[in-house]
Amino acid sequence: MAFTYKPKKPHLISFHSNFYTTLLFILAFTVPLLFIVVLHTSTSSRCTPFVSDNVKAWSGNLRNAQFAWNRLHFPHIQSPPDLLKIAVFSRKWPTGTTPGGMERHAYTLHTALARRGHRVHVFTSPLVDNNRGHPGAPTSTSSSSPRIHCHEGEAGKWKYNKAWELFDEENRRQPFDVIHSESVALPHSLARNLKNLAVSWHGIALESLQSSIYQDLARKPNEPMSPAFNDSLYGVVPKVLNEIRFFHNYNHHVAISDSCGEMLRDVYQIPRSRVHVILNGVDENGFRNDLSLGLEFRSKIGVPVNGSLVLGVAGRLVKDKGHPLLYEAFSKLIKKHPHVHLIVAGSGPWENRYKELGPRVHVLGSMSPSDLKAFYNAIDIFVNPTLRPQGLDLTLMEAMMSGKAVIASRFPSIKGSIVVNDEFGFMFSPNVESLSEALEEVVREGPKRLAQMGKASQEYAASMFTASKMALAYERLFLCIKNDIFCVYP
Ligand SMILES: *[C@@H]1O[C@H](CO)[C@@H](O)[C@H](O)[C@H]1NC(C)=O
Ligand SMILES: *[C@@H]1O[C@H](CO)[C@@H](O)[C@H](O)[C@H]1NC(C)=O
Repeated sequence: MAFTYKPKKPHLISFHSNFYTTLLFILAFTVPLLFIVVLHTSTSSRCTPFVSDNVKAWSGNLRNAQFAWNRLHFPHIQSPPDLLKIAVFSRKWPTGTTPGGMERHAYTLHTALARRGHRVHVFTSPLVDNNRGHPGAPTSTSSSSPRIHCHEGEAGKWKYNKAWELFDEENRRQPFDVIHSESVALPHSLARNLKNLAVSWHGIALESLQSSIYQDLARKPNEPMSPAFNDSLYGVVPKVLNEIRFFHNYNHHVAISDSCGEMLRDVYQIPRSRVHVILNGVDENGFRNDLSLGLEFRSKIGVPVNGSLVLGVAGRLVKDKGHPLLYEAFSKLIKKHPHVHLIVAGSGPWENRYKELGPRVHVLGSMSPSDLKAFYNAIDIFVNPTLRPQGLDLTLMEAMMSGKAVIASRFPSIKGSIVVNDEFGFMFSPNVESLSEALEEVVREGPKRLAQMGKASQEYAASMFTASKMALAYERLFLCIKNDIFCVYP
């Protein structure tokens, strides 16, 4: 690993105590001085738990970097050193307010690159609702937005060969510098001859295999396995093998988590100079710390502003997002601790189960972006009990950007890219006992301590998970694909 974070808290404490105990024996007469040293050391490491000087010091060929590029500082903040013509293949382009994670990524990234002056052409399926004057809609003529090329056919139905024809025509007019495929939008049979292609993987089959294991282990002893789940379980290993064989046809791979990068290098055996880790980002203007907004929201939904400890969960309320685990663990927790509340933002089959838990569980349904912002500010800690470790959950990043500690399943992607320091939150194995233990620990720590952790989370999130950081990292990758001189960092 190129970067190692400072030792986690427990190690830090034992290291300091052993080390300084010995010193105190030997140098008894310098006790007062040492106290100052100890105090100074522990305060400074607590305030900046994750700032690693290695990051600033790193230099070399970016193609060999095995850590997330988000950790680097990119010069050219103002304007890019070269303007690129970029082709994007995306099955869908968002037009509504709640697009899926992959479309959101494509939209956030490529509107940012277009704003920086790059000429971005998006090849996609017919838009689902294109009369709303969305900033990315084809009616837009602004040169600072991506140009959208929808192929013919049914709305939302992706036909890669039709998109390829449109691309081919534009590419003949003037060749693209870089081609970007969101996942397998461009199949490997067409991608294999393109040297200047990068593909972003939003979840790979090896992660689905892990996910199936966690999901089945969360099944109760007397609960039958659904035939659909059994089918997917039996189908997943051939899928992994198939992916390993065809992934090689794509030239550059972007992994959206550190652990996915590791799998692509170590299990999929893709040469490391072709695997690049760039974490997804969330809009830094959409989520930020706002204490009064949070307090207002608490009183609006009837949570006592004083003395309560508020947990929050958001997203689709379905089984594979781990809601059976949280439901059970939380129903035990509220019996023991009368000041604990849970806010549930989202809809799905588990909505009614949560309502059964009484007045301290606030089930609010799906939320508008502005309510969601207030929701994150109203909680003390964000819970993500997911059993699906594919990709990287944006809700965890949004909560951290809003200045909140998090508690999440201990999956390689989360451990490797999000809760990389004990100071940012808690992790548990995806089972009820482990989640219950972690929740008890959260209650013991209390709101004040959680607020400190939230501050550390926010600093880390602001340095790693912003949409502008993501866009700068992709820009640098695309520049490096066009011209080797841009691969040399800084
Ligand atoms: C799951 O599918 C396999 C293979 O199709 C079959 O042999 C097995 O009996 C099924 N198990 C359950 C619990 O349905
Ligand atoms: C909350 O606590 C503060 C002081 O700790 C007190 O002044 C205030 O009245 C309390 N508010 C409520 C709603 O209990």
